Amino acid sequence: MKEISKEAREKIKNLFSRYPDKRSSLLEVLHILQDDWGYIEEEDEEKIAELLDMNPVNVHEVVTFYTMYYRRPVGRYVIKVCRNLTCTLMGGETIINYLRKKLKVELGNTSSDGKFTLEAVECLGACELAPVMEINGEFYGHLTPEKIDKVIEELK
Ligand code: FES
Repeated sequence: MKEISKEAREKIKNLFSRYPDKRSSLLEVLHILQDDWGYIEEEDEEKIAELLDMNPVNVHEVVTFYTMYYRRPVGRYVIKVCRNLTCTLMGGETIINYLRKKLKVELGNTSSDGKFTLEAVECLGACELAPVMEINGEFYGHLTPEKIDKVIEELK
């Protein structure tokens, strides 16, 4: 089981003072721990539940519901490409296939150099930018293969 770093513990402690009860801070605590550990696996859920005085089942439900929490090690850059309706209508499938070929990685996997994890996700809430992808929290819209080349080059 992973240990929580001193820095993460401090951040969590400060967070608790901003919520009426510990359990209300769950989403933010998960972000802090994910930054600390890289990902949240099933065996971590009990420790998190203990920390927040809640049932591990509830932690599990939240971690598995949101795609922003990783269940296994991921690359330095996590590329989330939208596969929902608007993006698909605007060429999202071509974009996904282009990324697969360019990075030589299948959906749900990480490139052999450990740099890029590629995921297809549901609506990113930025439909006006379709087709769109998000990389480590930053959005890139109106994607074309040329735009992708430029973005990936900058990240390398
Ligand atoms: S459908 Fe792609 S961001 Fe909404």
